[in-house]
Amino acid sequence: MQFAKGDETIVKLTMAQMNHFHTNGFFFMPNPFGEERMREIEQVAVENEDKWASTDWPNGLNKLACQFLMVGEPILKIVEQPQLVEIAKRLLDCKQVHVGACGLGDALKAISQSQGPHRQVYWHADGGPDIKQVSFRTGLDRHDPTNAPLRILPGSHLRAREEIWEELLQLEIATGQHDFSPKELYTKHPAEVETILDPRWTLVWTPSCWHATGVKTAAGPRRAMGWNYFPAGGRKRDVEALKYIFPDEWENWNDERKQLWGLLD
Ligand SMILES: [Fe+2]
Repeated sequence: MQFAKGDETIVKLTMAQMNHFHTNGFFFMPNPFGEERMREIEQVAVENEDKWASTDWPNGLNKLACQFLMVGEPILKIVEQPQLVEIAKRLLDCKQVHVGACGLGDALKAISQSQGPHRQVYWHADGGPDIKQVSFRTGLDRHDPTNAPLRILPGSHLRAREEIWEELLQLEIATGQHDFSPKELYTKHPAEVETILDPRWTLVWTPSCWHATGVKTAAGPRRAMGWNYFPAGGRKRDVEALKYIFPDEWENWNDERKQLWGLLD
């Protein structure tokens, strides 16, 4: 892993980045976590790789969320960094945010387990124009063009889901490969951005923006860590995972921490 040396980087949100987020749905900033923290997290991920691969988490709990939370304090501290929480509040234009979803690991692997040997994620949006959220996503490996890079359709978080679906469907049919109307869409959109996620950079984006991945042809891992901040009333997908991973601790957390992790109403 290679990126600027030193501890946590001070990051400031510029107007231009904020505008890019609102208009296009994403922007990049230098990895703000520091080499030490990243190394610490990677070490936990590597040490637990085999164990996690064979772990059956209780029904209903998100596997990648459990893996994320298993890292423990180092990863909680990252998510709680005041500068990141502040950026999230400014982007979402609200006074309070909580973490509604998190994940660590290889999302493609998790998908392959449920859908067979797919080496690619199809076009979808985790939300829509009415869902306000901001996600911080950092690769533990470089997701280059052969390593199923994340493809984003800029500005699609502002448009009706049906409209985007129809647009992508027509492009997919236009490939001439289908006998029937396809249910999963993968075709390149002329306006899409193929993002090469390098550990030196963190992607700040809204998963309400339509996204897919390229095909994974490279061997080796494709790990990432990410979490989403939501304004009050937003999603709280991983609260049960949190209680499961921190059964003896969470009730003793202070209110500030409980609030940030969605444990208060
Ligand atoms: Fe997604």
